[in-house]
Amino acid sequence: MTEVVDPVEALARQLARHPREPLADSPTPLRAAPRLSEDLGQEVWVKRDDLTGFGLGGNKVRKLEFLLGRARADGCDTIVTFGALQSNHARQTAAACAAGGLRCELILTRAVPRSGEAFEHGGNLALDHLFGATVTVVDDDDDAIAAAIGTLHERIDARGGVARWVPPGGSDAVGTLGYVAAGVELAEQITASGLTVDDVVVAASTGGTYAGLLTGLRLSGIGSRLHGICVYRDAEHTRDAVEGLLVGVADLLGTSPVSFDEILLDDAHLGAGYGLPSPGTLDAMRLFARTEALVLDPVYTGKAAEALVARVRAGTLGPGVTVFVHTGGAPALGAYPDLDLA
Ligand SMILES: Cc1ncc(COP(=O)(O)O)c(C=O)c1O
Repeated sequence: MTEVVDPVEALARQLARHPREPLADSPTPLRAAPRLSEDLGQEVWVKRDDLTGFGLGGNKVRKLEFLLGRARADGCDTIVTFGALQSNHARQTAAACAAGGLRCELILTRAVPRSGEAFEHGGNLALDHLFGATVTVVDDDDDAIAAAIGTLHERIDARGGVARWVPPGGSDAVGTLGYVAAGVELAEQITASGLTVDDVVVAASTGGTYAGLLTGLRLSGIGSRLHGICVYRDAEHTRDAVEGLLVGVADLLGTSPVSFDEILLDDAHLGAGYGLPSPGTLDAMRLFARTEALVLDPVYTGKAAEALVARVRAGTLGPGVTVFVHTGGAPALGAYPDLDLA
């Protein structure tokens, strides 16, 4: 007789085959947001991935569990990664390396057209230094980045180091495993709570968070629509990244990729571009803060919240519960002292 394996059990077994360093305080809470719900006239719950805890928390901690697990299994002593000057991913990588006894090299680009003391030295960047990372700041052009990579290769080779080069946002198939695990976690919480969740809203930048969540939710039998709110590139480019990650992560898990028809991306809230909040972003930040004391950021979660509010107003969400995935980002807030949040 063939053994009947529950698909959720099978997924858990597949995830457990991958080396993982415990970093996140998980499961993170799935909490009701009653005052926000009342204000919007839509029941909203919040998945608090801002509370992953480690290194001031956020979504990248989940990816880093698998990225560092794999790097260590491969004998690496250094993690190199990339981001914009105020990258949350860079800060969380620096934190994970500090606690894990690995060297951390960050190549940070001036991708956001902002300047000033706070933006160029404060926020996440100050924390990168605090966690002991080596930071190289370059202009956001291919030649400058290539030159920095070349110099870094030489430096690492000269000391006989073994580096793992992690892409921006930790979004390769291995990092995406972290959000598959988060999707499974959210699915368990939805099932245990008995909620009917029609819609889930999350910020999408390099796509790993979105691709992992979609995979974890679907493989756990949860069919809620997952709306990825583009904050970095337009929907077409973001879709390319998500599709590649859906295939890559399915490969690692030995499953078929989630159908590409399930991908829902919305780039209507990009505003003037990555890292540049619009008035609607700030309105959403104020609303979440003043109803639920939720601290959003102007780059990622503020824009995702802006999209959620717009969808409620347009009447395009289902009648059931909407889950807002709070992916963190508040440590960057101090780098934006000029934002009018009053
Ligand atoms: C706070 C926050 N939310 C969301 C994201 C988007 O995650 P992803 O790059 O996996 O799409 C990021 C990525 O940097 C982030 O820092």
